Amino acid sequence: MALRKFAMRTPGVVAILLGSLVAGSAFAQSPTYGVGRTPTADELRRMDISIGFAGEELPPGRGSAKEGAQVYMQKACVGCHGVTGIGGLAPILRSKLENAETLPVWKKERILPLRAPSATIVWDFINRGMPVGLEGTLKPDEVYALTAYLLFLNKVIPEDQVLDRVSLPKVKMPIGDQYGKLHEFKSNTPRLEGYPY
Ligand code: HEC
Repeated sequence: MALRKFAMRTPGVVAILLGSLVAGSAFAQSPTYGVGRTPTADELRRMDISIGFAGEELPPGRGSAKEGAQVYMQKACVGCHGVTGIGGLAPILRSKLENAETLPVWKKERILPLRAPSATIVWDFINRGMPVGLEGTLKPDEVYALTAYLLFLNKVIPEDQVLDRVSLPKVKMPIGDQYGKLHEFKSNTPRLEGYPY
């Protein structure tokens, strides 16, 4: 739409732009640069770990909050994030607010297992980014268990709920569909309530 409007006003510029795009892709196919190399199948596999909103890419595995509490100690999450997610040097993983449940979602702290639009995002973040320094070493069962633990600590799921590739995408996050909502913007106020956090 935007490009169409732009094209109507400035057809010459768009022609040049499109021309350079075509030329660019022709060059990209040329083998003469001699820069870089094709990634190996193993390298691609290690990079190809993104988990989408619906969780279709989730691996088999399972875990509960009780198991997650143990993994949290074993994998030294506690060293950076503190006991039950509070008190470490790294960001808090559990709400500190007494009345967090009653607050509108944007008034709650910015905590991933509380504000993520989907529980699969919490899984994906832990899987790809934690523990800092040893990223990518957690097994799927451990990631399911840690996700369950952090969601339980934030009262998103009950303690006995088992998370797996079927149940995880079905978890209802407290943010509901508000993550996509535009906020009223007044000048000289933060663009989003509670942001920057
Ligand atoms: C060496 C310190 C360290 C260890 C160990 C560690 N983390 Fe973290 N963690 C961090 C830091 C630093 C951040 C903030 C990273 C950022 O915002 O990019 C973070 C962020 C997070 C977040 C997102 C927090 C938010 O609300 O944005 C989660 C969830 C998390 N860690 C879970 C874990 C779990 C589970 C483990 C154990 C497997 C773990 N971390 C181990 C340092 C650590």
